[in-house]
Amino acid sequence: MDYQEVLNQVLEEVRPVMGQGKVANYIPALAAVDPGQFGMALATVDGELFGVGDWRTPFSIQSISKVFTLALVLARDGDALWRRVGKEPSGNPFNSLVQLEYEHGIPRNPFINAGALVITDRLLSLTGDPRGVLREFLRAESGNPSLDFDSVVAASEAEHGHRNAALAHFMAGYGNIENPVPSVLEHYFWQCSLAMSCADLARACGFLARHGRRAGGERLLTRSQAKQVNAIMLTCGTYDAAGEFAYRVGLPGKSGVGGGIVAVIPNRCGLCVWSPGLDARGNSVAGVEALDRFTTLTGLSVF
Ligand code: DON
Repeated sequence: MDYQEVLNQVLEEVRPVMGQGKVANYIPALAAVDPGQFGMALATVDGELFGVGDWRTPFSIQSISKVFTLALVLARDGDALWRRVGKEPSGNPFNSLVQLEYEHGIPRNPFINAGALVITDRLLSLTGDPRGVLREFLRAESGNPSLDFDSVVAASEAEHGHRNAALAHFMAGYGNIENPVPSVLEHYFWQCSLAMSCADLARACGFLARHGRRAGGERLLTRSQAKQVNAIMLTCGTYDAAGEFAYRVGLPGKSGVGGGIVAVIPNRCGLCVWSPGLDARGNSVAGVEALDRFTTLTGLSVF
């Protein structure tokens, strides 16, 4: 298949919706991003890379970081992890508080903010430096040794992070946070602030297309664990829009409020699309459209 040709066509077909949606403004540093940008990249399991548009421009990965922190904890803890966080879709917004009280401080899944805070807390207990471990992992997988945090975004989110602080303290009240809440929040804000391009991210999710094998060939996850992460992406990766995403795109995917979405085609490639305009549920409008076009044009989905 001529992937470059497909991406060129996707770019043309997506033009009418480019710039639609609203940039996230609850993190003020993200509100400053030009909403007209669009990029898409595809990295095959054997190292080929294709891209269109602004595919080399770094953007804030935000919640896409949750895929990688989940993988890093699952690799170390295995199934013991599921005592502290569930694996069911929430049907609620990513920063919702209500479900947590009904469910006694156990978040529905690792991709809503509450679940991701538990994962960061665990990675802090396991490594002492979750943000550093994550950055090293992503540098290695993307092949980009200079990718880094955006300290302006991290500071902006910390300053406006009341909801995340509420979630973390609430869970600490149920005994589901092991470390001091301020440390967990700090590491979480930094992990979300990582700046990566579509090219970096398409490569970085390659281990999920290679059934758990890292870019260098060594294993991070068992084949079964890689399946588990992909399954949770499919059912929970786009929050209360996961049903519509599965219906339209048919791939495991994970979005972030920076406007990025990664998607995985097992055995074949990692994909990343980026356009900052978001729909009401926090997913990139042009990004979802592009992935919808991609799987429709190519017939490549998990179904
Ligand atoms: O914690 C937050 O609200 C952000 N750092 C990340 C949220 C996010 O990306 C949700 N994804 N669509």
